[in-house]
Amino acid sequence: MGENKNPETADLIFDGKKISLPVRSDNQGQKGIDIRTLRRDAGLVTYDPGFANTASCQSSVSHVDGERGRLLYRGFAVEDLTENCTFVEVGYLLIHGRLPTRTELEKFSALLNRHSMIHEDMRTFFSGYPEGSHPMAVLSAMVVSLSSFYPELEESETEELDITATRLLSKLRTIAAFSYKKSIGEPFVYPSYKLSYCANFLNMMFSSPVTDYQIDPVLVRAMNKLLILHADHDQNCSTSTVRLVGSAAANLYACIAAGICALWGPLHGGANQEVIEMLERIHREGGNVDKVIERAKDKKDPLRLMGFGHRIYKTYDPRAKIAKTICTEVLGKLGVKDPLLEIAMKLEEKALADSYFAERKLYPNVDFYTGITYRAMGFPTDMYTVLFAIGRLPGWIAQWQELKRDPEQKIWRPRQLYMGADHAPFVPMEKRG
Ligand code: SDX
Repeated sequence: MGENKNPETADLIFDGKKISLPVRSDNQGQKGIDIRTLRRDAGLVTYDPGFANTASCQSSVSHVDGERGRLLYRGFAVEDLTENCTFVEVGYLLIHGRLPTRTELEKFSALLNRHSMIHEDMRTFFSGYPEGSHPMAVLSAMVVSLSSFYPELEESETEELDITATRLLSKLRTIAAFSYKKSIGEPFVYPSYKLSYCANFLNMMFSSPVTDYQIDPVLVRAMNKLLILHADHDQNCSTSTVRLVGSAAANLYACIAAGICALWGPLHGGANQEVIEMLERIHREGGNVDKVIERAKDKKDPLRLMGFGHRIYKTYDPRAKIAKTICTEVLGKLGVKDPLLEIAMKLEEKALADSYFAERKLYPNVDFYTGITYRAMGFPTDMYTVLFAIGRLPGWIAQWQELKRDPEQKIWRPRQLYMGADHAPFVPMEKRG
């Protein structure tokens, strides 16, 4: 990462002392105070729970413009990529920093095929899970177990990285499909070298020895677009988790498994499952969205409007716009009439017209409409966050690689403000009452 070329400084005056801290700028006009000498020069630390005002790194992988509702992957607008690329192309772009040539894409796709199976010994792992196990638990455990079967990524050389990246990209999709088949008691469907990434996934998910499953090109296109929408999103919670674990020099499989666990949280990637469960509840209770809006505004009520709000976007999440279009397109082409779509649109309309949401700049985020499309495509609700993880994987790999190559990065070890007891006198067991 480039040294700070910006002569600007920020002066801090505290306790009669003044220190000047260097200020860095990114290429979008965001300036950042470099506080790496703050404790040494002023004895101070910063306090920023949730890191809403803290940049953990410099990155070139993606950029989220929260004010203008823009999302760039390596400089390309997500709208252009969703419209013109496959998910595999975008995965290559994020990991390599440029769109692949036809030859590079064919090579990358061939590697994806070569690595699409999991070791046969791993098949037995699935039978160890009780019925009803959440597929995110299975996914994370299986990914960290890959480190027992495949060598850690020694050097982040291109060749080695491509093998490890395509191994993970391909096997995550296979593990996801196998965990679904296990959950419904159907035999695993193996990946086929004849099928593209998304067609393979749909086939592994929905074909079976007793059905003549036809892969619908409409669903393949929708799957590509939906995975592209989730492919990266600068320093979100799960990406930061991957970076945090990577900063300790843990292997890539361990980092990705940790990222999957963070993504599972209902405030993060788990929200796409929460949205559908919220919409189903509204539908069951008669479709009255006003009650949910009032509850979401009530500070005494823990309920939040799932799929709404975002730490960075203070306008409409561009991915939510695209997801809404995909949703109406897919349901239209499949001839699916889902009352949940109507409820979601009514909820959005009411919330956007309500001052509580307007004042706080709360808009639909990526999770608000995706679940309705997944439902129409036949995915069970507990698989939605798994789909988010499959989409996010190339971004996690790209961010992990960037961290490893960043000379300014070191192990992440934040400070704290200690509010606990001080020099508590020891009380021996017999005197503890
Ligand atoms: C993702 O970071 C990323 O980039 C994430 C992601 C990615 O691609 O990686 O975009 C994916 O995680 C999307 C977000 C999915 N989560 C949800 O949809 C869950 C519902 N949303 C909220 O929990 C919340 O909006 C968060 C978690 C997304 C953001 O939380 P923040 O930034 O910490 O905001 P906050 O809690 O400080 O809220 C600010 C105010 C509060 O009210 P006041 O105290 O000012 O009165 O807005 C309110 C909040 O109570 N608020 C909501 C709300 N979200 C925020 N009120 C009702 N419903 C909501 N959804």
